[in-house]
Amino acid sequence: MAAVALVQGASRGLGLQFCQHLLSHRAPVAVIATCRDPDGAPALSALAAGNPSRVTVLQLDVTREEQIQRAAERVRSAFSGVDLLINCSAVLHPSGKGETSLRDVSAEGVTSTLATNTVGPLLMAKYFAPLLQKGTGQFGRQPAEKTKQHNGILVNMTARVGSIGDNALGGWYSYRMSKAALNMATRNLSIELGRSRPKIVCVSLHPGTVDTDLSRPYHKNVPQHKLFSTQYSVQRLMEIIDSLSMDKSGKAYAWDGSEIPW
Ligand SMILES: NC(=O)c1ccc[n+]([C@@H]2O[C@H](COP(=O)([O-])OP(=O)(O)OC[C@H]3O[C@@H](n4cnc5c(N)ncnc54)[C@H](OP(=O)(O)O)[C@@H]3O)[C@@H](O)[C@H]2O)c1
Repeated sequence: MAAVALVQGASRGLGLQFCQHLLSHRAPVAVIATCRDPDGAPALSALAAGNPSRVTVLQLDVTREEQIQRAAERVRSAFSGVDLLINCSAVLHPSGKGETSLRDVSAEGVTSTLATNTVGPLLMAKYFAPLLQKGTGQFGRQPAEKTKQHNGILVNMTARVGSIGDNALGGWYSYRMSKAALNMATRNLSIELGRSRPKIVCVSLHPGTVDTDLSRPYHKNVPQHKLFSTQYSVQRLMEIIDSLSMDKSGKAYAWDGSEIPW
């Protein structure tokens, strides 16, 4: 049976590249790509049109619980389970730029960033965990010991700036807070879904600084060799996903496999 991977936030950037990578390098993996406006995602539509037997596009705004629930129901009726779920969607801030000081902080900015970056991925886990438990464990490493095996992998895309221990610069209140809280969700999920039977591996992954719309306002400050292409970043992140097992669950890893402090 072909493995099933679901990429949430697949219209562009890293999410789109995950879909491309899975189609080019992981045949016959079936790809479920969700985005909030499929008609406004031409690159994803072209990918789906070129791979009609392997790509399913579903509409899903991660800030809308009923849409997450509906997407999970549609996946349940079409697939027996999900082996890999990657929560990719995020915003830096509704304005497109992170706050540089307290003066820039607004309740609307913080709450809407948290809704997309933190609450949405947690609700994805709520509705898709039962499907991950029905996965066939085809991603990651499986130890011989049955009690340590997993059925599915849940990836929350985090950012190094969400690390409290690593924060020496300040700023970006909304985005940093949203990713720090997302990391707490990952940790909590790893405990609950690591005790469950079947088990699910839950990790946060940091992609590096990648050439996408999200980081575009800051590209001029990044040395060229430190600004990754989406292809390079996804290749490295898939290597980490391939290495995951239950004993690596509940942690945050950077693109090079190093662990990021909470
Ligand atoms: N790029 C970097 O340097 C960098 C660094 C560290 C971490 N990350 C993380 O990597 C992940 C991917 O980022 P990226 O660089 O690929 O960003 P991006 O190119 O800006 O893409 C963001 C994606 O999130 C989707 N999205 C936003 N709000 C949504 C919502 N309410 N519902 C569903 N989808 C929504 C967007 O969909 P629409 O097309 O509909 O807007 C788009 O597909 C994010 O979690 C980000 O925090 C990125």
